[in-house]
Amino acid sequence: MNLKTVNTTCTSQSRRTLLDCLLFLAAFVRQPGQIGALFPSSRSLATAMIQPLDLRHAETVVELGPGTGAFTRLLVDQLPQSALCLALEVDSARSRVLQSRFQRVIVYNRSAEALGACLRRHGRRKADCIISGLPWASMNLCAQSRILEAIFANIQSYGMLTTFGYLHCRDFPNAVNMRRILRSRFATFQPSQIIWKNVPPAIVYTCSSIHPK
Ligand SMILES: C[S@@+](CC[C@H](N)C(=O)[O-])C[C@H]1O[C@@H](n2cnc3c(N)ncnc32)[C@H](O)[C@@H]1O
Repeated sequence: MNLKTVNTTCTSQSRRTLLDCLLFLAAFVRQPGQIGALFPSSRSLATAMIQPLDLRHAETVVELGPGTGAFTRLLVDQLPQSALCLALEVDSARSRVLQSRFQRVIVYNRSAEALGACLRRHGRRKADCIISGLPWASMNLCAQSRILEAIFANIQSYGMLTTFGYLHCRDFPNAVNMRRILRSRFATFQPSQIIWKNVPPAIVYTCSSIHPK
């Protein structure tokens, strides 16, 4: 790569980062509960979300609440060529941005509750890995419960889920509820160290091997 290419790449990356921040800020003003964040996640948080997943043998991977693709970028870099990758994003503008950036991913402009229906459209029964960027702390409890049930019903028994929460929201009732349910349904529930290199700082939860109901 020559200097001109590096320069052009940096400029287009900075432009994309700026655009994403503006998209997030505008969405936060309009629907703070739905986006649940002022800024897209950092590279450090993305790494902490993707690294624990065993993607080498994954055939079916789903991302819930991908936004503008902070985790998707790293995810597609590590996916086997043959794996099916679906993303469910409830906001239509962010879904369009995401689909235009990642042709490798099939983006559905649908709520995460439609996870099972989307898998079935591709002839898949369950996902091997699920990555969730959903704003659990600001979501109402009924929606949270429906989405968690959709995850439990549509992940392989050996499957892995990563999700995250912001440090300052850790004691919000809905965040506590989400962690309680995940801990009770998965054989392992592992919180990460605090990811300080994110605005705001966050904690990743890695869950694996779901208990049969
Ligand atoms: C905190 S942002 C995270 C975006 C991205 N993963 C990141 O980390 O930068 C949460 C995203 O979840 C989406 N979202 C909220 N509720 C959803 C739902 N029920 N189904 C699918 N996406 C949802 C929002 O529209 C938003 O794009």
